[in-house]
Amino acid sequence: MKLADTRGRALRDLRISITDRCNFRCSYCMPKEIFNREYEFLQRDLLLTFEEITRLTSVFKGLGVEKVRITGGEPLLRRGVERLVADLAGLGLDDLTLTTNGSLLRRRAAALAEAGLRRVTVSLDSLDPAVFAAMNDVDFPVSDVLEGIEAAVAAGLTPVKVNMVVKRGVNDDGILAMAEHFRGSGNIVRFIEFMDVGSSNGWRLDDVVPAQEILDTISAKHPIRPVAANYPGEVATRWQYVDGQGEIGLVTSISKPFCAGCTRARLSAEGVLYTCLFATSGVDFRAPLRSGASDDDLRQMIAELWEARTDRYSELRSGVTVNLPKVEMSYIGG
Ligand code: GTP
Ligand code: 5AD
Ligand code: SF4
Ligand code: SF4
Repeated sequence: MKLADTRGRALRDLRISITDRCNFRCSYCMPKEIFNREYEFLQRDLLLTFEEITRLTSVFKGLGVEKVRITGGEPLLRRGVERLVADLAGLGLDDLTLTTNGSLLRRRAAALAEAGLRRVTVSLDSLDPAVFAAMNDVDFPVSDVLEGIEAAVAAGLTPVKVNMVVKRGVNDDGILAMAEHFRGSGNIVRFIEFMDVGSSNGWRLDDVVPAQEILDTISAKHPIRPVAANYPGEVATRWQYVDGQGEIGLVTSISKPFCAGCTRARLSAEGVLYTCLFATSGVDFRAPLRSGASDDDLRQMIAELWEARTDRYSELRSGVTVNLPKVEMSYIGG
């Protein structure tokens, strides 16, 4: 059975957060002042088990999901992720990938690839050691992340996608350096407009560097041209270097929202399903999973939720969620 929401959008991607914890404190995602010692992260018994995740994912597959991304928080902090990867790989999905901050990738890339992971996306906001350390806010060295990316390439988790969230006055002077570092490497940098996700990152429009400005910066030195999307509803728009040195991507959630083609559902680590990154509420699947729901029951719940879906937050932006606490990115997953 295939599903369509109220705007005719299919359900094709599932993004699964497996932990709300992270060893970084990027200010745009988990600002230190809020995600401190007192912050209450999810207790272990509240997290879906790998068995529960795999079962639910197989139900999603029956409803048309072909693309699964494991996220967090930092997913590699959860023990035994390789086991989950192997179980999910066994479902025969078209695409199985994972988003990580890269801090643990050097040691884990080979095992992840062996377990059946196809590729990996690594967040990397700057190549400048001082800027990178300041952005992750735990002084994590950029060299370790670069080694992680190399390990991922060596393990065949390619092309590695590198996500750079651009913040005005913080790391925007490193756009060209980032593009040039990965130009010709076969890996793909995606420049991401800083988004107003969650309620704690102090987002202001002034902090956003619009994609056009990023494009202008890069193309002034290295001419680029647009390329067609790999699949309908692809998040990033693709641009290719005219001289054949590879491609970059732009995620234009602010300057050019892409809700019209949004086929993504998000499952939090505790089993709440959200149909939008900017949702204020979702539907709990943990209770039914733990109280004997059949696959048919689960299918029914997903179908009802998806068929009623109206989300297009990025297109509406202001006004829709005023005064309602949006879920945090570290909870719902990038
Ligand atoms: P590929 O499968 O490699 O194309 O990756 P993807 O398109 O799934 O992209 P990825 O997960 O790396 O997303 C890149 C960034 O885009 C994320 O980190 C988010 O910041 C943002 N993003 C992803 N999905 C959505 C979405 O549905 N809505 C909005 N507004 N932003 C999104
Ligand atoms: N705006 C844009 N991207 C964000 N990410 C996290 N928070 C934000 C935000 N406020 C990105 C990270 C990572 C992925 C998990 O989501 O950089 O690549
Ligand atoms: Fe952690 Fe990624 Fe959020 Fe940074 S953006 S705090 S690395 S989950
Ligand atoms: Fe999809 Fe919501 Fe993002 Fe729009 S804002 S693209 S509906 S997740």
